Amino acid sequence: MICRSLVFVTSVVILLLTDNAYLAAQHRLEGEQLKRSRINFDQGWQFHKGDIAIKRAVKAGKQGGLTDADVKVVTGEEAVIAYTDKNKVADYKPGDWENVNLPHDWLVGEPFLHDDNIGSQPAGNGYRQPGIGFYRKEFEIPEGDEGKRISIVFDGIFRNSTVWVNGHLMGNHESGYLPSFYDLTDVLRYGKEGKNVILVKVDATDFEGWWYEGCGIYRHVWLIKTGSLHVDQYGTFITTPVVAPGKATVNISTTLQNDYNVDRKFTLISRVFDKNGTVLSSQSSTQSIPTHGKLTITQQANVVSPQLWSPETPSLYKVRTEIVEKGITVDNYETIFGIRKVEITSNGFFLNGKLYPVKGTANHQDFAGVGVALPDKLNAYKLKLLKEMGSNGYRCAHHPPTPELLDMCDSIGMLVLDENRQLSSSVQGIEDLTTLIRRDRNHPAVFMWNLENEESLEGTVTGRRILETLVETAHQLDSTRPVTAAMNHGWDEGGYSDVLDVVGYNYGQRGMQYVKDHEQYPKRKMFVTESTSYVATRGEYEDNRGQGYVSNFGMGVGWGLQPGQDWKHIVQYPFLGGTFVWTGFDYRGEPTPYRWPCVSSHFGIMDLCGFPKDGYYAYKAAWTDTPLVHVFPHWNWPGKVGQKIMIRGYGNCEEVELFVNGKSVGRKKAEPFEYFEWEVVYHPGSLEARGYNGGRQVASQLIETTTAPEQVTLTSDVDHLNADGCDVAVVNVAIRDASGRVVPVANNLVRFSVEGDGRIIGSGNGDPSSHEPENTSQRSAFNGYCQVLVQSGKTTGEIRLKAVSETLVGATVILKVQ
Ligand code: GAL
Repeated sequence: MICRSLVFVTSVVILLLTDNAYLAAQHRLEGEQLKRSRINFDQGWQFHKGDIAIKRAVKAGKQGGLTDADVKVVTGEEAVIAYTDKNKVADYKPGDWENVNLPHDWLVGEPFLHDDNIGSQPAGNGYRQPGIGFYRKEFEIPEGDEGKRISIVFDGIFRNSTVWVNGHLMGNHESGYLPSFYDLTDVLRYGKEGKNVILVKVDATDFEGWWYEGCGIYRHVWLIKTGSLHVDQYGTFITTPVVAPGKATVNISTTLQNDYNVDRKFTLISRVFDKNGTVLSSQSSTQSIPTHGKLTITQQANVVSPQLWSPETPSLYKVRTEIVEKGITVDNYETIFGIRKVEITSNGFFLNGKLYPVKGTANHQDFAGVGVALPDKLNAYKLKLLKEMGSNGYRCAHHPPTPELLDMCDSIGMLVLDENRQLSSSVQGIEDLTTLIRRDRNHPAVFMWNLENEESLEGTVTGRRILETLVETAHQLDSTRPVTAAMNHGWDEGGYSDVLDVVGYNYGQRGMQYVKDHEQYPKRKMFVTESTSYVATRGEYEDNRGQGYVSNFGMGVGWGLQPGQDWKHIVQYPFLGGTFVWTGFDYRGEPTPYRWPCVSSHFGIMDLCGFPKDGYYAYKAAWTDTPLVHVFPHWNWPGKVGQKIMIRGYGNCEEVELFVNGKSVGRKKAEPFEYFEWEVVYHPGSLEARGYNGGRQVASQLIETTTAPEQVTLTSDVDHLNADGCDVAVVNVAIRDASGRVVPVANNLVRFSVEGDGRIIGSGNGDPSSHEPENTSQRSAFNGYCQVLVQSGKTTGEIRLKAVSETLVGATVILKVQ
């Protein structure tokens, strides 16, 4: 320890002696301090809903006003930058500001309004009025940080955000789905100079899509501190040009940025680590970088007997980049990567040399209770549910995802179709695509870039020109991944498809377009970028337009297939590469085929809380090897005694047999990927399905008529939480009868309370027509279930979540916080 300190001191002294005076401030910093830090900046914000007359104040530029940078000691109140008068600071009323932590989506707390003019299309965003809001945060920067480069990164703000720091306008960023960065080095106040105030205006009055997009700083925020010689933003690009049995070549391209006023000489060291932390290779290059310049250095490493990445074996490696000046490490940076070979050919999708049809779902980013502001845990929860269903592919519809989602896909094994938002070759359009690709190109999970979705210019000459520019941009930034476009028309017109590496088919089963195109253009590489759009409301078995419910027996919306049939096509025609079912989860907005009072979509295989609908079992049957049989509806039909009732089912067994009240009504051969049906007469009791392979029973399902609701039960997905103020337990709530059976028609109101350092951040029930507030501590069950999300604080101990419901026996769940 002492020796290390001596080395530091000696090195610092040597640096001070040899460099010019300008650099002295830098070298006051110890080597350790010069290293990069990435500090989470999510906690301790304030939020103000509604507009503040900022523009006028900016123009005023008065002493002590918004644009004044000379204020020496500024308290939070003085710096709030809320002006009503050119000459006078408006009263800063802390009471007008709500304390919040990020991620935050204020739209999810707004009431539903029956107004078809909200959003880009009627019902598009789910009948909530987006608007303008402000965020502010006071923070201190230690004196010792002077001399570092300090920047702030917003991973995602929906949308059109403007940022001021200490009264300085830092800039504006439109996209609601891409990150924004501001270098704060010059305008920060260090140590005794005073507190810093950051103010962010969010203007979500405009929209980017036709779904619920939220409002606010809904992804993480980071403060990045580096020395003046550092790895550039997204400065590493790791590829594996050779993936052969027994050996892989790793190409490490590193871009450095020199923010010093002089040229710098340095050594770049790149070490490759395996998952156990063993160094597999170490490359070193010594070079000079010009003042205020960028320099890209390429190094190559070999990995012997590489563990190939796949959804089944998501093996990861890491490159640790170090920049060393005169023996001192001045930057260190880590990049996770994987070694795998993806090939999309006219015969299909191949992973590590084997045909590997992608079992994918397309998804928007929201979730019950929290809108688009998902703590990381909820993204992990959604991915876990998809994995359990057998899915190995995720399409980020229709925009760049939150970065943590990609980290998770890398580590759990989920192939990702990463998506650009706008078909635009404007300066902004190119910049957005560039940011997306530079940000995401090291993720082994990402296998293809999707440049657009169903734009009206598909199949046109203008569209082709724009697309071609985007394709060129993508190829230049990443020559290792193909590009596609998720088209719903124009495949064979205007030369549009010709500029793509892979032609995307949304609903290409219409007229068997994709099969015809394969015959006509046998060299065309294809992928089913979107399919199915099957609509169903969890637990509903009759269409009910008034209430906005769609039966699980439905026939779909007309442009997709039934659950499972979509996969049958992929099996029949492997050249299609794989599919992304629209959608894995319901999402707010787009309540097709209805509108008000319906506020959420019905497309999900699971509802907004992740509760499975019946169609879920069609996918689980198709995508896993577990023998399975699932029939529906439930068996609680007091009004239908003696009447005929239709039973439908999904499964993956050779034969299925149905028993009604203990009596067999027949055995059937099951056709792969198709549903099976019986018509039976209803009498309360039981419905049992059995599945057989080779004549042997391998699966079964029993549904019983329940008695009245009697008790509430709570099932948390975890029994402990991290004491980090971020972790979340997803607690599923069921209404059960005296025998513990879930009552499939129960809609009881459940009230929740928390003891200990934790809080309820939201609740949901999967009812697409529910107008209940989502961020309160009570919720009605919908067809037997609801859900509550409990977030930990920073204190260790216990959180006790209690659920009560008027006439029912309540329940408590205890979460250990560590
Ligand atoms: C697709 C579109 C999706 C969604 C879906 C509904 O055409 O890409 O965003 O609107 O239809 O079926």
